[in-house]
Amino acid sequence: MKKGFVFDLDGVITDTAKFHYIAWKNLAAELGITINETFNETLKGISRMDSLEKILAYGHKENDFTTEEKEALAQKKNEEYVKLLADLSEKDLLPGVHNFLVQAKERSIPCAIASASKNAPMILEKLGVLDFFGHIVDPETLKKGKPDPEIFVKAAESIKIESKDAIGFEDAQAGIEGIKAAGMYAVGISETENLAGADLQVASMTELSVEKLLTV
Ligand code: BG6
Ligand code: MG
Repeated sequence: MKKGFVFDLDGVITDTAKFHYIAWKNLAAELGITINETFNETLKGISRMDSLEKILAYGHKENDFTTEEKEALAQKKNEEYVKLLADLSEKDLLPGVHNFLVQAKERSIPCAIASASKNAPMILEKLGVLDFFGHIVDPETLKKGKPDPEIFVKAAESIKIESKDAIGFEDAQAGIEGIKAAGMYAVGISETENLAGADLQVASMTELSVEKLLTV
C-alpha cells in the first residue's frame, strides 16, 4: 500500500505554465530572443534562474549579462508573472484536483508539494487548497533542481513517509525523472506530451481514484 502523495504545482494543480510562458516570452522578446512552445516545454519544472540561463543560451546571449543584471531580469519576469496571477482563484484548479485532495484527506493520506516555484505558497492560498498540504518544500533549501530527486525525497520526508511508499505527480519530463530517481511511483499528467518513464500517464486527474492508486 502506498502511504502519501507528492505533487508538483505548475501544470498539475493549476495551469500556471501558460502564465510562465507569457512572462518569459515577453522578457525574451525584449532581449531580442524568440521562444516558442516547443522550447517552453524544456523550461517546465526548471527554477527561475535556470530558466533564464536556458533562454539566454538559446539566444546565444549567455555571456552578455552580469549576475546582477540576470537577477534583475529574473525579477522583472517574476513581477509580470505575479501580475498575471492576480485573478487566480478556486476556479483555476485543474479538473479532478479538488476531488482528489478531498479523497486523500478523507483517508488521512498525507500530501506535500514539490515545486521549483518560490510562488507556491501564495498560489496555493489563492486556489483555496493550502490546507490540504502537510508541507511545501522550500526551493531555496535545494542544492539541485529537477531532474535531481532531492526535492521529491525532501517532500516525502516532510510528511514522514519513505520515498518507496510515495506517489509523485508531474506534468514535466524533468519532474518524472526526479520522481523515478527518488524511487517513487510516477504519475504523469499531460494531454499533449509523452512523459517517458512515467508508471502511469493520464490526461487529467479526473481519471484517478485515490483508493485504486494506493494499491499500485
Ligand atoms: C516550476 C515551473 O514549477 O517553477 C517553472 O514549472 C518555473 O516553469 C519554476 O520556472 C520556478 O517558478 P517561480 O514561480 O519561482 O518563478
Ligand atoms: Mg509542472
